Amino acid sequence: MIIKEVIDKKREGHSLDSAEIRDFIKGFTKGEILDAQMSALAMAICCKGMSTRETADLTDSMMRSGVMLDWGEGLPTADKHSTGGIGDKLSLIIQPLAASCGLRVPSLTGRGLGITGGTADKLETIPGYNASLNLEEMKAVVEKTSLAMTVQTAEICPADKKLYALRDVTGTVASVPLITASILSKKFAEGAETLVFDVKCGKGAFMKTREEARELARSLVDSSKASKRKSVALITDMDNPLGLKVGNANEVEEALEMLDPNCREKQLRLKEEIDLSVELASRMVALAKGLSLEAARELARTKLAEGAALEKFTQMVAAQGGDLEAFKTMREKAKVRRFRISAMRSGFVEAIDSARVGLVSLGLGAGREKSGDVIDIHAGIDFEVKVGDRVSVGAPLATLVTSTRPEALEANAAMLLKSIAIGHNRKESTSLILETIE
Ligand code: URA
Repeated sequence: MIIKEVIDKKREGHSLDSAEIRDFIKGFTKGEILDAQMSALAMAICCKGMSTRETADLTDSMMRSGVMLDWGEGLPTADKHSTGGIGDKLSLIIQPLAASCGLRVPSLTGRGLGITGGTADKLETIPGYNASLNLEEMKAVVEKTSLAMTVQTAEICPADKKLYALRDVTGTVASVPLITASILSKKFAEGAETLVFDVKCGKGAFMKTREEARELARSLVDSSKASKRKSVALITDMDNPLGLKVGNANEVEEALEMLDPNCREKQLRLKEEIDLSVELASRMVALAKGLSLEAARELARTKLAEGAALEKFTQMVAAQGGDLEAFKTMREKAKVRRFRISAMRSGFVEAIDSARVGLVSLGLGAGREKSGDVIDIHAGIDFEVKVGDRVSVGAPLATLVTSTRPEALEANAAMLLKSIAIGHNRKESTSLILETIE
């Protein structure tokens, strides 16, 4: 392979053959291909795209750059991937729920960057929780509980790790084939035979329009199928934040309530979020176990109502070193500053702009502006209202919380107030699921 010719070929808009893609990724992983050459190819892919076959080849090459987990016989292995949103703590519900329905779920999760949070950051707010398991530790946790939630280990998909770092600084993140190969290579390497994708769409999502979300969902599903994995994608609404809490530790608290059968009131309040969680877990179960969707939904609803998903979550947290009692004590004792905002007029909450909410959360210290920043685990927003609620003048809308940036409270409170639209129109509660791509 002549490196420059491969770059030229893609730049001219031609398809690369399987061997060219394989050799390029191999050379890049070993350091024989320069970062500049890989960046040039990434830019050419960004501009000219890739076919499903090329994307599947790229996925396969990246998967093979490191260790591939093989779980052998026993439970079917499945995972879910969300493209990320504001207040999106649903992985903390879906993965344990799917595992409680009899699946093996060795989930590699991400950290937050920019306005979207990361599941690993949320879990790490639990004292002792190790979200950076090594391969042996990850295997032991999955053997014990059938569920692990940890970040990509050094051994898994090193090509993706290297390439992502380059994409981040060369303006080549926003490419459907590169995103697809990056997501899928890790999921395939962790051994998932079934994959369910939650492609978020709207103001607080990476994909702002239905067309963009559809393109990514189609690419994820088609490339999975081309690699002989069962998969389905749901395109879901991310215009408004998910749940009433946005941050890190407060989102873990909310997830615990969503999992707890004794928190019925909270579950009714968050009906759309619970329904979406059950649907995504049911899709995993139906595909992985070969059940009808109706049977899978029934099973998932029963497991959630029985507290089996909460038990699974608790087992996993303990197996990864976390202490939920210490988490509760830590939250009670946290030294934080709060700022409450109230309604300036009466009416119905018509919309809550999730992009602005994400910026407020970031401003309070709950997120990372650049990779490596330290987050304030207690920072975030606790909403009192959801879209569709009726409010009167002076009614509390939300509380901003920070333990590290008290000086940021006032300006962010003003921005949060602007993000909550109050008017005459009552929006009826509707499903968060906009579309299904199979
Ligand atoms: N998540 C990933 O793992 N990779 C991407 O490229 C985008 C989102």
